[in-house]
Amino acid sequence: MTELRVVDVTEDQLDSVWQVRIRSFGPANDREGWTKHARTFIEDGRFIGVLDGDDLVAAARMWPFEQWWSGRRVPMGGVAGVVVAPDYRGRGVGSLLMRAVLQRCVDKGYPLTGLYPATTVLYRHLGYEFGGNRYKFSFQAADLRTLGGKGTAVRKAGRGDAELFLELAGKAHESRRSSGPLIWPVSHVEAWLEDENNFAYVADDGFVVYSWSDGNLAVDELIAGSEETARALWATVGSGSSIATTVHAYCSPFDPIHLLAEHEAAADTRINRWMLRLVDAPAAIEARGFPAGVVLETDLRIDDPELPANTGDWHLSVADGSGRLTPAEPSSDALRLGPRGLAALYAGTPVAALRGAGLITGGADSGLDAAFSGPTPYMLDYF
Ligand SMILES: CC(C)(COP(=O)(O)OP(=O)(O)OC[C@H]1O[C@@H](n2cnc3c(N)ncnc32)[C@H](O)[C@@H]1OP(=O)(O)O)[C@@H](O)C(=O)NCCC(=O)NCCS
Repeated sequence: MTELRVVDVTEDQLDSVWQVRIRSFGPANDREGWTKHARTFIEDGRFIGVLDGDDLVAAARMWPFEQWWSGRRVPMGGVAGVVVAPDYRGRGVGSLLMRAVLQRCVDKGYPLTGLYPATTVLYRHLGYEFGGNRYKFSFQAADLRTLGGKGTAVRKAGRGDAELFLELAGKAHESRRSSGPLIWPVSHVEAWLEDENNFAYVADDGFVVYSWSDGNLAVDELIAGSEETARALWATVGSGSSIATTVHAYCSPFDPIHLLAEHEAAADTRINRWMLRLVDAPAAIEARGFPAGVVLETDLRIDDPELPANTGDWHLSVADGSGRLTPAEPSSDALRLGPRGLAALYAGTPVAALRGAGLITGGADSGLDAAFSGPTPYMLDYF
């Protein structure tokens, strides 16, 4: 092993990335599609690799997402495809790569970064902590079929409705003060709606996208701005109950469907946890929403060894649904936390749980739970 270098992946290195990928994630098809897709990350400086001499031995890429936090959109670098060649593992290469990813998130101006961890250890060392879950619930198709909503006009949708879908989802997440769902680049929404295996329908204030999944049906996303639309769209999916017995659905644990369906979701709900990290603490606080009625003034001491710009004494003010983190004088009363505690707090983890795990020490809780509370963070998509 010569001295390792962090580089931007280039087109002629994609073959090596593919080789490391199949050694990491297993056999894969559609190399052509993956390569086309990979180019979009290269073009925009969002694909990072590690070279040993001329050999590419590790790579990772970043999605340019926005993520809803308490009803507001916060730019978020979604880290994916983190791979290290088997013969280079266990020697700090993954850590070297992820440090470069964090720095690139700084350079790109993402206040947040998130990922689905295959192992938490690597990411926790770098300041990521669990932020929320992706839930896959299963409902009885026959239950959904009879939900009604027959007075609601529903039409077939396609690629040309991408902007409309983003707008409808945005309205719903803003009014529900959602935390967690991603906003994808519009080109990806177009590709999703264009795929003939995805069935998309739209009403005045909502839409659904679903597909077949091993003889059953699976809802990728269902947004409804009213009870009638929720009934109409779920019933559209449930109309497949003569063939499909089950409808799997990616949705939040407080989606109205849980209150509408006669039978509760099956006991075997699948949960994938995702992790979050604040890249720029003041920007992340300023961008997210806070509960309208909460007023908070408190001191925090943040120690962030990976991103020293976050380290320091801060004053957190919350009022009128917004928050601000401003530099402050050191205070012995300040609550102390590192990046993991900060990420989990941002995602609404109760302070008592963070104290119990040693991720917050000192200070008083002084209304922090109320400030960061809200509907449970969730994501619909894996990336
Ligand atoms: C996961 C992976 C990227 C780690 O790369 P690496 O170069 O071995 O990581 P590092 O040597 O920098 O290890 C960093 C820390 O993570 C730990 N770690 C690495 N792989 C681990 C694993 N599979 N399980 C538990 N801990 C692990 C290391 O022990 C080290 O912690 P320590 O310093 O406390 O001992 C690499 O094993 C890999 O490519 N795996 C297959 C693909 C994959 O799972 N990618 C992650 C997708 S989210």
